[in-house]
Amino acid sequence: MTAAKPVDKLTSVEADKELARLAREIAEHDRHYHAEDAPKISDADYDALRRRNEAIEERFPLLVRPDSPSHRVGAKPSEKFAKVVHAKPMLSLDNAFADEDVADFAARVRRFLGLKEDDELAFTAEPKIDGLSASLRYENGVFVQGATRGDGTEGEDITANLRTLKDIPLRLSGKPPAVLEVRGEVYMTHANFAALNKRQEKDGKPLYANPRNSAAGSVRQLDPAITASRALNFFAYAWGEVGKLPAASQWDMLQAFKAYGFQINKETRRCKTTDELLKFYRGIESKRATLGYDIDGVVYKVDDLTLQERLGFVSRSPRWAIAHKFAAEQAETILEGIDIQVGRTGKLAPVARLKPVTVGGVVVSNATLHNEDEIARKDVRIGDTVVVQRAGDVIPQIVRVIPEKRPKNAKPYKFPDRCPVCGSHAVREVDEKTGKADVDRRCTGGLICSAQAVERLKYFVSRDAFDIEGLGGTYIELFHEKGLLKEPADIFALTRKPDVVSQLLSEHRAALSEARREKEGKEPVKKKARKDDDKEDKVVENLVASIDRRREISLDRFINALGIRHVGETTAKLIARNFHTLDAFVDAMESDHAVADLDVIEGVGETVAEAIKDFFDEPHNRTVLKHLAKEVTVTEVKAPASSGSPVAGKTVVFTGTLEKMTRPEAKARAESLGAKVASSVSKKTDLVVAGPGAGSKLADAQKFGVDVIDEDAWLKLIGG
Ligand code: IVH
Repeated sequence: MTAAKPVDKLTSVEADKELARLAREIAEHDRHYHAEDAPKISDADYDALRRRNEAIEERFPLLVRPDSPSHRVGAKPSEKFAKVVHAKPMLSLDNAFADEDVADFAARVRRFLGLKEDDELAFTAEPKIDGLSASLRYENGVFVQGATRGDGTEGEDITANLRTLKDIPLRLSGKPPAVLEVRGEVYMTHANFAALNKRQEKDGKPLYANPRNSAAGSVRQLDPAITASRALNFFAYAWGEVGKLPAASQWDMLQAFKAYGFQINKETRRCKTTDELLKFYRGIESKRATLGYDIDGVVYKVDDLTLQERLGFVSRSPRWAIAHKFAAEQAETILEGIDIQVGRTGKLAPVARLKPVTVGGVVVSNATLHNEDEIARKDVRIGDTVVVQRAGDVIPQIVRVIPEKRPKNAKPYKFPDRCPVCGSHAVREVDEKTGKADVDRRCTGGLICSAQAVERLKYFVSRDAFDIEGLGGTYIELFHEKGLLKEPADIFALTRKPDVVSQLLSEHRAALSEARREKEGKEPVKKKARKDDDKEDKVVENLVASIDRRREISLDRFINALGIRHVGETTAKLIARNFHTLDAFVDAMESDHAVADLDVIEGVGETVAEAIKDFFDEPHNRTVLKHLAKEVTVTEVKAPASSGSPVAGKTVVFTGTLEKMTRPEAKARAESLGAKVASSVSKKTDLVVAGPGAGSKLADAQKFGVDVIDEDAWLKLIGG
């Protein structure tokens, strides 16, 4: 290396060139150091390169490059994270727990693809890293944006934080596609986790429960300098938008990622049989404790990308992959009490209050007891020693009681027959058809039950509904208690009374700190509640802004938000796609053919239709809707994206033998084009695709006068 020109002597043209060289060189060294574990220069020389880069940037701030290595240690903190809509949704995985589930998965894939017994089918088997997923966008090889998964469709922009991770190249090596979104897991090693908690303890700060929480907490810091101080790592294992795929298999994609400068997990293997998959699983399970980072299972993926493409997705998870989870972890503790929580539909949910216990690295103090029958079946009594189980992010459960440890005076638990919140009777409805009592006991208080009202409001603002940021459960409870929130429209009215909200919040804060002082045995403060600087004003300002942001909402979210019994996200989507606009939906529901109009929707059954009708029959609900309509604009929901296809919105039935593809593949393809695939022919059917050997369904088609075509005509219709 020739002696570099002193920074203060550089012209701006030279500085520009030098910054480009340093960015490249430092990235190269990062790669040698991290990806290949073989540094080519000493730490001192490496630091010198970085210092020179920083010195030049300080003199020529306008020349700082987007891929500058200095971004790794902390750009200015942003006010809050902006939203990023993922170019391709970030999906989740279906779970397998038992060996049979894995065999079923492989068989399902084979069946879908119509593979013969001796046809080969390879999978990759990868450790399932227990961190948080992130999507990294590269344009022309330069890292331009990093986002969290969020709800899969929209995440948060955490670019500045991700730039500080050494495993995330700012500039890719080799010849990556012009657009490349690399996806993978941000995680914290056991060693870094232990060191972080040691520091937290020394600084008198709260400790993190486990590496995953601390990774998530670190990546969502508003100040990237904090993220930089936390030593996070990243494994690449998937992708989103990609210009031209650099490989034809999952395995080769991973190798390409490695060549671009990413870390890929070195435990990953390619397997050809279910036995090999299970062997991999057991192998990883046995060395789990020595890996140095947390994993919570193994992921199997069909290796061939053409097959992945054919297999496609079912709602939010791919058909070509599955997560084989490790068995849940268990621990013993004492059941100190049973609380009854009242949900938005009045359901009385028993919650176990436990003596806090660590289960698989997480402190658990509550667990679900499911329902009255479960408590009776397990004969769970207060004071019992119980076994609690926790699997991944599932709510902890009580598995069983240890009878030998039961205190002498423990009495069988008597489930309340009145709502603990409003005192109304709580009943188990009896199904008219089966004569069986429902497993859940429900409060009959309806509108007078404040627990139900509060839970409904919480549901209204939740992620899959109105998704109002900053309006959490505590605020809803507080505003409801103070009479500020009674029905959903009141949420929007809050934006017109920021002063009232602000005053309430400061009183609340004062009450909290008073309670704390009292608990600590300190004298009460004699002052009147005073606003804590401008804190409350800022909180209220943000809250008002986030409520206002949701004044426009799509019909499916709107319907979901109403919290109608049996109507969740999926059903709300089906209904929205059918009616398109709120007016059309409400008009139909207020007519005398409401149930019939709902019944024609594929996927909406009688129970759901009745529940929706019941909702609209209740005058109070109609008023709630009317008030809401004054506050928000509900946008139209169009038929699925493929509405241009000739079969969109059509109900199709396949019958007989298909020769060009399997039945499941035909069904999936039709659905991806917006068609509904039914299993029997009725007058609602638009088209029957009949292959050789078609029987009674063909006869039904003739009976109902439904069009019948063969497989070739079908393929021609949908464009091959
Ligand atoms: S593949 C389309 N591979 O598990 C499939 N996911 O339960 C995309 N995860 O959200 C995911 N290790 O956060 C995949 N080797 C791996 C993984 C992995 C961990 C996480 C990821 C995902 C979740 C699904």
